[in-house]
Amino acid sequence: MYLFKEGNILLLLLLFGASTGAPRTFSVDYKNDCFQKDGEPFRYISGSIHYSRIPRVYWKDRLLKMYMAGLNAIQTYIPWNYHEETLGQYNFSGERDLQYFLQLAQDIGLLVILRPGPYICAEWEMGGLPAWLLNNKNIVLRSSDKDYLSAVDIWMGKLLPMIKPFLYQNGGPIITVQVENEYGSYFACDYNYLRHLTQLFRSHLGDEVVLFTTDGGSVGYLKCGAIQELYATVDFGPGANVTAAFEAQRHVEPRGPLVNSEFYTGWLDHWGSHHSVVSADAVAKSLNEILLKGANVNLYMFIGGTNFGYWNGANEPYAAQPTSYDYDAPLTEAGDLTKKYFAIQNVIKMYHKIPEGPIPPTTPKFAYGTVFLQKLETVSSALEKLSYSGPVKSMFPLNFIELNQALGYVLYRTTLPVNCSKPTPLSSPLNGVHDRAYVSVDGVAQGILERYKTISINITGNAGSQVDILVENMGRINYGRGINDFKGLVSNITLGADVLTGWTMYSLSIDQAVSQGLLGRSLSTNPALPAKLSLPTFYGGSFVIPDGIPDLPQDTYIKLPNWTKGQIWINGFNLGRFWPACGPQVTLFVPSNILSTAAPNNITVLELEAAPCSGGPCTVEFTDTPILDTRRSYNYKPIRRLFSKEDLL
Ligand SMILES: *[C@@H]1O[C@H](CO)[C@@H](O)[C@H](O)[C@H]1NC(C)=O
Ligand SMILES: *[C@@H]1O[C@H](CO)[C@@H](O)[C@H](O)[C@H]1NC(C)=O
Ligand SMILES: *[C@@H]1O[C@H](CO)[C@@H](O)[C@H](O)[C@H]1NC(C)=O
Ligand SMILES: *[C@@H]1O[C@H](CO)[C@@H](O)[C@H](O)[C@H]1NC(C)=O
Ligand SMILES: *[C@@H]1O[C@H](CO)[C@@H](O)[C@H](O)[C@H]1NC(C)=O
Ligand SMILES: *[C@@H]1O[C@H](CO)[C@@H](O)[C@H](O)[C@H]1NC(C)=O
Ligand SMILES: *[C@@H]1O[C@H](CO)[C@@H](O)[C@H](O)[C@H]1NC(C)=O
Repeated sequence: MYLFKEGNILLLLLLFGASTGAPRTFSVDYKNDCFQKDGEPFRYISGSIHYSRIPRVYWKDRLLKMYMAGLNAIQTYIPWNYHEETLGQYNFSGERDLQYFLQLAQDIGLLVILRPGPYICAEWEMGGLPAWLLNNKNIVLRSSDKDYLSAVDIWMGKLLPMIKPFLYQNGGPIITVQVENEYGSYFACDYNYLRHLTQLFRSHLGDEVVLFTTDGGSVGYLKCGAIQELYATVDFGPGANVTAAFEAQRHVEPRGPLVNSEFYTGWLDHWGSHHSVVSADAVAKSLNEILLKGANVNLYMFIGGTNFGYWNGANEPYAAQPTSYDYDAPLTEAGDLTKKYFAIQNVIKMYHKIPEGPIPPTTPKFAYGTVFLQKLETVSSALEKLSYSGPVKSMFPLNFIELNQALGYVLYRTTLPVNCSKPTPLSSPLNGVHDRAYVSVDGVAQGILERYKTISINITGNAGSQVDILVENMGRINYGRGINDFKGLVSNITLGADVLTGWTMYSLSIDQAVSQGLLGRSLSTNPALPAKLSLPTFYGGSFVIPDGIPDLPQDTYIKLPNWTKGQIWINGFNLGRFWPACGPQVTLFVPSNILSTAAPNNITVLELEAAPCSGGPCTVEFTDTPILDTRRSYNYKPIRRLFSKEDLL
């Protein structure tokens, strides 16, 4: 067993450091079962942080906290769909400035383990793949499919040359680069695809960089996940048998460093399920076992962060992940230090020297209090402002991709062909509502259709009445066979026994309308009666940051008491989805950088089901404490399966 001695390396660095111009090298040492950095044995203790889930202004704070915990590396995913939302239009600026993030990590003293995909899973919309790949509706994603590969080649041709200067060999922080992600869990088992990616990565990054794969910690996963040219690593959580999991890696890699690429510090959540928690003790104990074996480890997640906007993913059978990606990680969603942080630091201390100096403190949170909102327009009445591209007409419904829209909401409109004076079933017999549809007839809310849950509701109305169906993409499936996740009405809607025809569809650009302040006050003066279900409606209000308190604005959390489900923006920034009626998440993280002291801060809420505004107080509330676990039942015990990927199948 190789035992790591930090002291020796420090000494060597002092003696033969960068100043001597010694070549920077990083490689797999098969003889000594470790990595080799600049010719010396090396092991990493790394943590996952996804820049796409953390406001740019906080990247440095979070990275510093990771460094002070004793980590010598970070691991990050690159979500393709975040950088190429629209085919051919790349965005690497502002919040998406990957190179700035890499530079910061290096400046702080952290190495980088890069996971550029193309598929990343990550509980991210469509596992990071752009929805526009579905323009070819028969595409086989993550395989040698011609259309898929040519899109991947173009993307990697853009991305990898940007990465190249950041490789360790070239003076940067990147020590290893992952190819694909947990490919052994995917049905396709296409070795030619992995070989193609290997050649592609080599052609852009050169022969020297260590390329690796990651799969579940058992031989079964490695079967389709590992190929000879790529160094195979495993992932497993504190519930796993460490010896057995590394034996699985040894099955494929008889020599070389032991690596757990995803050691789970917590776990993900789904709407409607319990909030996942994993004890700090279990994490510390298992981490110690891993380090005792001389293994390399990456803690997934070290900080989870937030699925702002529409970026959350979903699992099958369809269950969407909430806005918070707190993950019960050692740093909270808001970057706060936890008991788990210090438990981990204490374990690392036994193996590595921890940097000296103060840990950046937890950022203060401010409870700005209650804000009154007013009813603005309904979605149906604001269509002209919301649908820039104008309506599209078709006999049968078109899906989001056919309408050239990836995320958010589309309104489908038609008329009743017959009188439905008695309740008549409006159905999606093929379960084709992806994912949730808010149905109204002539401005009266009728019910909600939902994928796998409700495929039929009764409606009433007269022949010629206007039927509006607002369909929400709740996040594309990010794992398994179902990642070809078409959204909208993906099959026909029937009324009674007949297929409804003559659709007018509105792609909605709600984010633009909100940030341009286009939504106005409701024209109706008489207050609506309290109803269990009302039309999807916007609400707005504003609040001023108080004067005379130093250091404002500060971070905060927003709570929507007695609201049901929807989307919320502050000053045009899309904070994400809320669904307190379902849980487990109740509060949304509001980073201070979106708040203003120079002008009133504008809150816009899209409530899809029922607002509290006609029977009770029409308010939202800022609080200094997060609530992520309303569904958690306190006798809930994490089971071993919680940590295995089968859980997601
Ligand atoms: C790129 O992304 C940033 C951050 O989300 C955004 O502010 C900016 O407007 C985007 N640029 C373009 C050209 O879309
Ligand atoms: C862990 O796995 C090893 C190797 O497969 C086995 O020998 C050992 O008994 C296992 N330990 C437990 C607690 O199951
Ligand atoms: C629908 O009902 C109205 C009266 O309620 C009647 O005037 C009309 O003819 C009916 N239309 C059809 C298509 O049956
Ligand atoms: C629809 O109405 C019919 C007749 O009134 C009733 O039998 C049926 O249960 C209703 N279906 C639903 C989904 O409410
Ligand atoms: C809707 O029904 C029509 C007529 O039966 C059929 O041609 C069409 O393919 C269907 N569309 C979808 C998306 O299922
Ligand atoms: C929420 O609704 C309940 C029942 O309608 C009411 O008692 C309570 O005061 C409401 N809470 C808030 C914060 O509006
Ligand atoms: C909020 O909206 C008002 C009115 O449109 C505008 O004057 C103000 O600048 C906005 N506040 C911020 C912080 O953008």
